[in-house]
Amino acid sequence: MRTLTAFAAAAFALASWTAAAQTSAPKPPAKAKPAAARVAPTPPMGWNSWNFFFGKVTDADIRHAADEMVETGMKDAGYVYVNIDDTWEGERDANGVIHSNAKFPDMKALADYVHSKGLKIGIYSGPGPKTCAGYEGSLGHEEQDAKTYAEWGIDYLKYDACSFIPQVMEKQAPNDKAEQMRIMEAAYAKMGKALKATGRPIVYSFCEYGWDAPWEWAPAAGGNLWRTTGDVQPNWDRIAVIGFSQDGLERYAGPGHWNDPDMLEVGNGKLTLAENRSHFSLWAMLAAPLLAGNDLPNMKPEIKAILTNRDVIAIDQDKLGRQGSRGYAEGEVEVWTRHLEGGALAIALFNMADNGRFGAHPFHLSLSRLGLEGPQAGKDLWSGKATTLTDKEPIELGKHDVLLVRVDKPVWKNRK
Ligand code: GLA
Repeated sequence: MRTLTAFAAAAFALASWTAAAQTSAPKPPAKAKPAAARVAPTPPMGWNSWNFFFGKVTDADIRHAADEMVETGMKDAGYVYVNIDDTWEGERDANGVIHSNAKFPDMKALADYVHSKGLKIGIYSGPGPKTCAGYEGSLGHEEQDAKTYAEWGIDYLKYDACSFIPQVMEKQAPNDKAEQMRIMEAAYAKMGKALKATGRPIVYSFCEYGWDAPWEWAPAAGGNLWRTTGDVQPNWDRIAVIGFSQDGLERYAGPGHWNDPDMLEVGNGKLTLAENRSHFSLWAMLAAPLLAGNDLPNMKPEIKAILTNRDVIAIDQDKLGRQGSRGYAEGEVEVWTRHLEGGALAIALFNMADNGRFGAHPFHLSLSRLGLEGPQAGKDLWSGKATTLTDKEPIELGKHDVLLVRVDKPVWKNRK
């Protein structure tokens, strides 16, 4: 009996220690390769054409986006990359050199224009014969394409698997998934090597929808970020499924190598302001790349206010580079935390409840479940006001809304 009690006490002590270790003591961030950390020391920030323009994007749209990044203050808030997604590609010439199509008459001139605004420019291709929209891919032309991008002055490449899956992997190794995955890894590594050989610092973004756990092998293949899921859409359900399923991947992120839950839909579709706020807050908690995808020339002031909220951006861009994770989920509430530089902590509470009479129900925050003890003084990053979180405090949030608080000096349980 006594032995059992002692054993139970020891087990309890171990469990509490483990719980405290998980919720309090920050582990050192994942190691980055020095070169990778140079191009993406914090998650890349910018804008990408796909989520608003899809296949219609033109040279003029990219120029306008660059203009607006400056005009709206987004550049000052930290946005850097103006990324052209799919549908810029034209034909290859007799030497195999890729040319842009009629929508993009002169890539070098476009890159110069974007650079003249103090911004950087990104482009899109894939390891297959065709891109997702059916344009020319890089298969068999990897070195040549990397060289062309570098000559144009490209600073970022999104490399999208698409046709590579059915036309290369599944053809070369039918019924052998393991071999198919090796083929994919080799293809991504090949372009990684080609980019490196150009000598130009180019952010390398993997887009293969989380196949074969890219977080395990992408950094070694030169990847600075890798998509963890299929495509985002401008509706809350899709954003929530993607965002809240990132828990557990935090140990793979760090300076130079980031999980990518896909680009932002802030300002797109019929997202409510609360949903836009929650989407942006969650991506910041996840140390996700912040690539806006909205119509910048027609951006509403309230959307601009979300995208340029510097306190929230500072959470995303925190130098420690530690991705946040779920503290706990209870009922219809998600509580996430992220460790920040200097011992600070971000705490985000999301009300997942849909409409209905009791949609905005007060719930209790349990600081103690987060490993914290006593009142926690911080700043509400959406109201900009000082706030103090207390244990068991009833908190009321609107449908799909968020409370995001930065606590600079968290008081941890069991810490002297
Ligand atoms: C895939 C990607 C998207 C976009 C399109 C372009 O669906 O996941 O982000 O790049 O291709 O065709």
